[in-house]
Amino acid sequence: MNTEWRIDTRIIHGNQGPDPQTGAISQSIIPAVAYAFPDTETAAAVVCGEAEGVYYGRYGNPTSRTLELKIAALEGGEDALGVSSGMAAISIALLGFLQQGDHVLVTKDVYGGTYSFLTSLAPRFGITFDFVDCTDVQCLIEAIKPNTKAVYIETPSNPKLTILDIEAITEACQARQLPVIVDNTFMSPCLQNPLALGADVVVHSATKYINGHGDVLAGFIIGKKDMIQFMRKKLMGDLGQQLNAWDAFLILRGMKTMGLRVERHCANAQKVAEFLESHPSIEQVFYPGLESHPQYQLAQRQMKGMGGIVSFEVKGGLQQGKKLINSLQLAMISFSLGDPETLVQHPASMTHASIPQEERLKFGITDGLIRISVGLEDAEDIIADFAQALLNIREDAHVESNIG
Ligand SMILES: Cc1ncc(COP(=O)(O)O)c(C=O)c1O
Repeated sequence: MNTEWRIDTRIIHGNQGPDPQTGAISQSIIPAVAYAFPDTETAAAVVCGEAEGVYYGRYGNPTSRTLELKIAALEGGEDALGVSSGMAAISIALLGFLQQGDHVLVTKDVYGGTYSFLTSLAPRFGITFDFVDCTDVQCLIEAIKPNTKAVYIETPSNPKLTILDIEAITEACQARQLPVIVDNTFMSPCLQNPLALGADVVVHSATKYINGHGDVLAGFIIGKKDMIQFMRKKLMGDLGQQLNAWDAFLILRGMKTMGLRVERHCANAQKVAEFLESHPSIEQVFYPGLESHPQYQLAQRQMKGMGGIVSFEVKGGLQQGKKLINSLQLAMISFSLGDPETLVQHPASMTHASIPQEERLKFGITDGLIRISVGLEDAEDIIADFAQALLNIREDAHVESNIG
């Protein structure tokens, strides 16, 4: 790969060329489970990681390997591991650093699945955790315990779009030999590269922007070669969380347009966020591209684009929020994000329902909060949809106040 290439070229050509036998430009799907070796020495070298190669489908396949090398290069890591979902990537990354008796510090306001893993599954294996406000690095440092073995952050966070200073956090953690794991899902490798900012490990839900078409569940872990090798053999392999060849092929295909898609998601999200912020029925908008965002300056410095997710609170809280969501005609009510379609959801009852209300409020996830994954449609049509839904709830409120 030409190391001078810029991101859009690397997304298309990086670690991927025509098939040497057929000349096929699109990647072949190789679903084989078993692979033949010329002799036992070569087989042994591949199994122990001394030689590059694939030996059994539960540890990877040639199609997912092409994708892993591409993702590793895009994130600036030594190696990457492709797994069956974003949660597989998160759980493998955490279990790669933690064992019985260990403690992990986690930024508050993380994805609901991560919260659920830490609060319900990890304690069964003797792993403890604390959620801390990582916007304040001092607060993070003070929360470190003698048995703290890792720090886990998500920036921008889901769903509040809190931005954390990756460089400041990794600097503080490096001084204390604490590895930092960053969930980079909301940014994709196009907009933020945490390893370049000092992080040790990056995880992605490739279900979102990386694949970008809402038809694959997948995840990636990116970091040092030895660590990835350990996770491949001892975690993914033993737990059986591999990425299959067909899904790897779909991601390789979907990724070709990632640069273009992400650019459009960002442009549309900025317009939608500005529209909502100027609307009289909206209480507050959370989008790092708005000057009103508490970490606006940091976001401008750290991120190459502000992403496609906008969260907001409508005046009148939960009831008005629900009415608004139900009045949308173009945007769909759905759990996922990063798809071509604009998707809307209510975190308190959907993606973050596993977090008890009291905890949710500590994370700033109010009952009235709504999250939009702004799609690739014409921004004017997305805005028109929200405008009609807002008009609808305003008229309802007017009628109700006349009745009352
Ligand atoms: C920030 C973030 N990380 C991880 C995940 C989990 O990804 P997956 O659904 O692919 O397991 C999600 C899912 O929404 C997410 O939003």
